[in-house]
Amino acid sequence: MKAKQLLSIALVGAMSASLAACGSASGSSTSTAASKAEEATSAPAEAATSTAAAATGDQTVGIAMPTKSLERWNRDGSYLEEQFKKAGYKTEVTYSDNKIDQQVKDLEGLVADKVDLLVVAAIDGEALSEVLQGAKDANIPVISYDRLIRNTDAISYYVSFDNYKVGQLQGQYVIDTLDLDNAGDKTYNIEFTAGDPADNNATFFFNGAFDTLKPYIDKGTLVIPSGQNQFEQVATKQWDTATAMTRFQNILGSNYSDGTQLDVALCSNDSTALGVTQAIESDYAGTNDVLVTGQDGDEQNLANIIDGKQTMTVYKAVANEAVATLDLGIALLNGETPDDKLISDSGWDFDCTYDTESYDNGMGVIPSYLLTPTVVTKDNIQKELVDTGYYTMGDDGYPHPVQ
Ligand code: GAL
Repeated sequence: MKAKQLLSIALVGAMSASLAACGSASGSSTSTAASKAEEATSAPAEAATSTAAAATGDQTVGIAMPTKSLERWNRDGSYLEEQFKKAGYKTEVTYSDNKIDQQVKDLEGLVADKVDLLVVAAIDGEALSEVLQGAKDANIPVISYDRLIRNTDAISYYVSFDNYKVGQLQGQYVIDTLDLDNAGDKTYNIEFTAGDPADNNATFFFNGAFDTLKPYIDKGTLVIPSGQNQFEQVATKQWDTATAMTRFQNILGSNYSDGTQLDVALCSNDSTALGVTQAIESDYAGTNDVLVTGQDGDEQNLANIIDGKQTMTVYKAVANEAVATLDLGIALLNGETPDDKLISDSGWDFDCTYDTESYDNGMGVIPSYLLTPTVVTKDNIQKELVDTGYYTMGDDGYPHPVQ
């Protein structure tokens, strides 16, 4: 069952007035991401917070993020903390340096501290069964945040973006930009770089892109000179930039040093795109612009987009992901069993789908709230990232994240 709720049919009264302004066509909004997020949640969060406070006194939300070394998780951690604090909750935030054992320890600590709710972005989706059993035994509800946690019945909900769609957007961007439907006999060379095999999202991103491009690969319009067309061959442990760079230098050395032209580097996210771009700068002999994809809108990648070194990124508004997590979290703290109605009840000013089919974690399908990602290029950075308040445009001509 899928339910989709759009702002236009959801909002009434004061909410509708403030959010209509926020979504106005003028595009000249000066609100910051934080104030936008606040705006989006103010009515439901305030109402629910007071109920929660009356029911339970002060409650603490444990927020477990994977690492500070990948930019986006810093933004997620700050937005989540800010949202829950504003709604009247205490927070404990952990970052586990991309180390699985460390995250297990951090989660053990949060359970021992008797937090009332856990929001967890896993480093390794397969490694948390035992520690989360402890959370379940202590009756702590767990939200799997952004990355699906596998092989546990301790998580009740999943909040993320439509991960398959992220890959589809990257693939479709390649099709449209190279006009592959009208390529005739012309062929283009493409190489894939995917994410961490321990991250459940990584296969969704890769499959979304690969499935979208497969008809053109089958037809011969797209050629993969390295022959690396399986997720396992193109994966990048821990989404690490240096690892992606070294692998891509090898690919360039083995397949392109004879002057073969590289047309597309399909990278699942920005940290890997950064490594691939560095490899192209150092080791690619060709002079053409390589179409490089990414995901996240990391600061350095946006600068590369402005400078023409990366072509696009798929942006996921993590401020909104935090808002969805807040409203879901409040419902869980109030002992409710949220479903698709949470979307209409919350009146979010962003698209969200309630999905009870796509994410089976090995113990059953986990009900999911999935937000919608956006393609960002040089042409729409201002509109999508700056006018919306997520980034400011610096005097240096590059966008900088607000959080
Ligand atoms: C994924 C996440 C992406 C990207 C990547 C590396 O799980 O969905 O947005 O950030 O991790 O951090």
